[in-house]
Amino acid sequence: MNPFYQDVLRGLSAPFKQLDSKYFYDQQGDQIFEEIMDCPEYYLTNCELEILSQQSAAIIDTVLAYQGAFDVIELGAGNALKSSFFLREMMNKKASFTYFPVDISANVISLLQRELPASLPGIRIQPLQGEYLDALHKATSLSKQNKLVLFLGANIGNFSVESALRFCEEIRHQLLPGDLLLTGFDLAKDPRIILAAYNDKAGITKRFNLNLLHRINTELEADFDLAQYEHYPTYDPQTGACKSYLVSLQEQTVRLGEADFISFKKGEPVLTENSQKYTLAQIENMAAQCGFQLCRHFFDSRKWFVDSLWICA
Ligand code: AVI
Repeated sequence: MNPFYQDVLRGLSAPFKQLDSKYFYDQQGDQIFEEIMDCPEYYLTNCELEILSQQSAAIIDTVLAYQGAFDVIELGAGNALKSSFFLREMMNKKASFTYFPVDISANVISLLQRELPASLPGIRIQPLQGEYLDALHKATSLSKQNKLVLFLGANIGNFSVESALRFCEEIRHQLLPGDLLLTGFDLAKDPRIILAAYNDKAGITKRFNLNLLHRINTELEADFDLAQYEHYPTYDPQTGACKSYLVSLQEQTVRLGEADFISFKKGEPVLTENSQKYTLAQIENMAAQCGFQLCRHFFDSRKWFVDSLWICA
């Protein structure tokens, strides 16, 4: 059975319904996410752009202090806008490296393959389409030098805290002592700022969330009526849990494929995304728990976001 179908059926048959946020990113979803990154409330991208545009040289110097030469593997590369600052700096420093961008979206990967060499002439690039850990495995077997893994964009926030820990442990298992990991974390802050980032006034995030149902309709032959679901983001400042739901506005039954039917109660929520926020203490704990040592934190000027550099112990 199609894994997308299987995941959707399993998620919507669970006592607390959920859908995996990795399925947001079809061609339409990629496009809406680009709009989110440009919208005024969604501060995360600008914070990390500020860090990478102003501190890439410092990040590279810190890595070079540990490692002479290294390849760059980027998990969830997207349009590589943020990492291109870093890559340009690597090229300016005449570093010898291969860039392995990894993304789940075939659309994103073919764009990168076409466009990155035009903006960074001479770059050695080997794009890999697939799930993060499978593609990381492939990249580590292709790479002939030490590695710096980039996991930017607060993508780690899309895991629950426990899954994020397991994920970093798995990255650690695929790396060798001396390899490094740079991860972007959105930091806990004024709850109103966080909630607004997932509930923008123009309704872009709402469209992004609902597009998941549209994708299920078109790819899995379902008949969701999008007007019958509401986008509902929440943030809990005590746990840092930021979650987005789609709430059923009425009692309804939806067909999935040829023979599956899913019933929704009025007001029933479907969890569609975690966007976990972290404190520095949690980040430092996480590094230690999964076999890394903290090298340095790189902050934006407001300290809303951090790119945290860890080395494999
Ligand atoms: C990709 N990821 C880090 C974004 C986030 O902030 O969780 C996805 C997103 N969802 C709604 N707005 C942005």
